[in-house]
Amino acid sequence: MVRTPTPEDRFSFGLWTVGWNAQDQFGAATRPWLDPVESVHKLAELGAAHVTFHDDDVVPFGSDDAERDRILTRFKAALEETGVTVEMVTTNTFTHPIFKDGAFTSNNRQVRRYALRKILRTVDLAAELGAETFVMWGGREGAEYDSAKDLYAAHQAYADGIDTVAAYIKEKGYGLKIALEPKPNEPRGDILLPTIGHALGLIAKLENGDIVGLNPEVGHEQMAGLNFTTGIAQALWADKLFHIDLNGQRGIKYDQDLVFGHGDVFSAFATVDLLENGFPGGGPRYTGAIHFDYKPSRTEDFDGVWESARANMRTYLILKERAQAFRADPEVKEAMEEAGVFSLSEPTLNEGESLADFLADRSAFEDFDVEAEAKKGYGFVRLNQLALEHALGARG
Ligand code: GCO
Ligand code: MN
Ligand code: MN
Repeated sequence: MVRTPTPEDRFSFGLWTVGWNAQDQFGAATRPWLDPVESVHKLAELGAAHVTFHDDDVVPFGSDDAERDRILTRFKAALEETGVTVEMVTTNTFTHPIFKDGAFTSNNRQVRRYALRKILRTVDLAAELGAETFVMWGGREGAEYDSAKDLYAAHQAYADGIDTVAAYIKEKGYGLKIALEPKPNEPRGDILLPTIGHALGLIAKLENGDIVGLNPEVGHEQMAGLNFTTGIAQALWADKLFHIDLNGQRGIKYDQDLVFGHGDVFSAFATVDLLENGFPGGGPRYTGAIHFDYKPSRTEDFDGVWESARANMRTYLILKERAQAFRADPEVKEAMEEAGVFSLSEPTLNEGESLADFLADRSAFEDFDVEAEAKKGYGFVRLNQLALEHALGARG
């Protein structure tokens, strides 16, 4: 029996996920517009603690101030009524044709200035609603053609844009952190900051990089053929895993945004193991919301939409239980010990050992029996089989 989610599980959903009307490149919408107020109520019923949204998911693009106020008042009332909170807000800088060449990195300077204003306006809204994280997914920041962009200027404009938003957050005294969301392609042929590593590299050069981190998405790293768990591990190591987008993806193809676990389920097990149990030798932990960014498939009606929302949380809870059993299993502990997993967190140099001491240590080199040591196996396959059996529920 999988237990029913509760707000303590910190589950969070983008309003654009359940609210997607399923219009795609090749076909019309298969579902009607869904009122965000209804989504809040429904997600609360299912046990979610939070919702997240793009400015335009709640207040349609181009609404005047009176309309905006009316919509927000009604939305806030739904939050109040359900106890659901807004933990993250983001800006849509990709749907309207004005953003067809990007926002911060558009070749059109007026578009860059307009985008900055739209983003700062959304930062104010995020602060007003008590969000902790401000996500930036630059889906249109990129190009189809290498000749189309001054790529030096594009990276500089991107960095400047992020730095300006971070400076604004600091100046206003908002308790917000920015989380960049990498993606390799789609909708642009090539998107800037395509992976976690690229984004970390840019953050390191920012003036206000202390409040800028990452919002990695499972499918986006997998679209680039990368290992998501390794990616978020580096983000954690760098103290930059500010937020997360969990979903499913089956290999290197278009962005599928499947339910969490409906793609590479064994990789999903490793992700939950890291999020819930941390690194085997200790280290930074993820403490943010367990956020799902998926799309209910185009084949589904509204019953299917809510079933798919529930499915994300059930998958997570199942994997959490399995990952806890995996770490608690004495045989696993022994296999990890055997495989040297715990040994890796021992520093390579002794405490206080100088380089001179190290160079003088004959046991490290001259007297080290390289051939004998090289013959020993690590036992990783046995350990991985134990992981697989726990993931499949074949062990207690
Ligand atoms: C995608 C992206 C988006 C972003 C969202 C936040 O599927 O390509 O994940 O869904 O996460 O727009 O800005
Ligand atoms: Mn995606
Ligand atoms: Mn996402």
